[in-house]
Amino acid sequence: MRKLRVAIIGYGGIARAHNTAYANLSEEGFPLELVAVCDRDASRITAKLNFNLGGVDTPLPETVHIYSDIDELIAKEDFDVADVCLPTFLHKDVSVKLLLAGKHTLCEKPMALSSADCAEMISAANKSGKRLMIAQVLRFDRAYVYLKEIADGGSLGSLDNIYMERHSVYPGWGASFADNSVTGGCALDTHIHDVDMARYLLGEPDSVFATEFNNPPSYQAVTTTLRFGGSTAVINCSWDASYEKPFTFGFKARFEKGTVTCEDGVVRLTKLGEAPSPVNLPETDGVTEEIRHFLTLVLNGGENSKNPPKSSAASVALVEKIRESSTSARVIALN
Ligand SMILES: NC(=O)c1ccc[n+]([C@@H]2O[C@H](COP(=O)([O-])OP(=O)(O)OC[C@H]3O[C@@H](n4cnc5c(N)ncnc54)[C@H](O)[C@@H]3O)[C@@H](O)[C@H]2O)c1
Repeated sequence: MRKLRVAIIGYGGIARAHNTAYANLSEEGFPLELVAVCDRDASRITAKLNFNLGGVDTPLPETVHIYSDIDELIAKEDFDVADVCLPTFLHKDVSVKLLLAGKHTLCEKPMALSSADCAEMISAANKSGKRLMIAQVLRFDRAYVYLKEIADGGSLGSLDNIYMERHSVYPGWGASFADNSVTGGCALDTHIHDVDMARYLLGEPDSVFATEFNNPPSYQAVTTTLRFGGSTAVINCSWDASYEKPFTFGFKARFEKGTVTCEDGVVRLTKLGEAPSPVNLPETDGVTEEIRHFLTLVLNGGENSKNPPKSSAASVALVEKIRESSTSARVIALN
């Protein structure tokens, strides 16, 4: 069987994590081959980047072909799967181009700068018949996978409320993060992780109230309250973390019969009336698991009920409502 031939487009911070994931999966025997990398800035291919997620900067395979132009990559390289790790303002145009060129396309989050752009991407995927998925990595991250299993399994009863947070230093390693027309700012770039996770856990919210402070390049911060019937999600996110702790995230999920927390990467389960106990999670990472999920769908077909593009688009639409609430200082009722 021919291996799936993959090209990474944009070789900055997050692309390093994708390259490591392809190397992990190849080593496991997954039928894939990273055949090409495309970045308009040749120095990024070999650069040592100061990236907030840390992790291993795995060397690229020696056989990989390097391109600086996306059209040239499409014209000259034989590949099945495109992995778009470009700044957000390019996600729509480049993903549409790749899909219409017949490439299955995995695109980094957020899906695009606007829900109108997301709709264009979905329509290109439908037209081409090729697979599109957005890398909403929390849906594949072991701490959040465990939380979702508890929420769906029902052993602790209903999820009454959840507090989620995510803080980064001002992202200075890549694209101009001070320019919201490149990244969408903290709300679209970073807050969307937990906004998407809240929807994944609790369904579609009835209402949103949010405050956003947008003071680039000094700091940006967003706090959102989502109501889902009788349940609530409060989500806090900023680009003003301390340089001693450049990236932190966590959650506290209160169920009818207990609590699940994640703090400093440690997940704890506390059943009502019992002491907290740390949870043993599998030795894996979200980027490897999201790529495994996508490539498995490409190979085997079937419905992507875990992370369909229409759900990623709905998270972008919800960030638009978060901004509307913040600008108007009003609670926004949703359908
Ligand atoms: N899933 C996550 O946790 C996560 C984390 C970080 C970033 N991201 C997302 O990934 C995307 C990329 O973020 P990043 O931090 O890696 O950015 P980055 O700026 O570090 O990398 C982007 C790369 O794209 C290249 N590039 C720009 N325009 C190009 C073009 N026209 N053709 C070819 N190459 C081009 C740049 O030279 C750069 O090397 C963003 O959408 C971001 O939101 C996701």
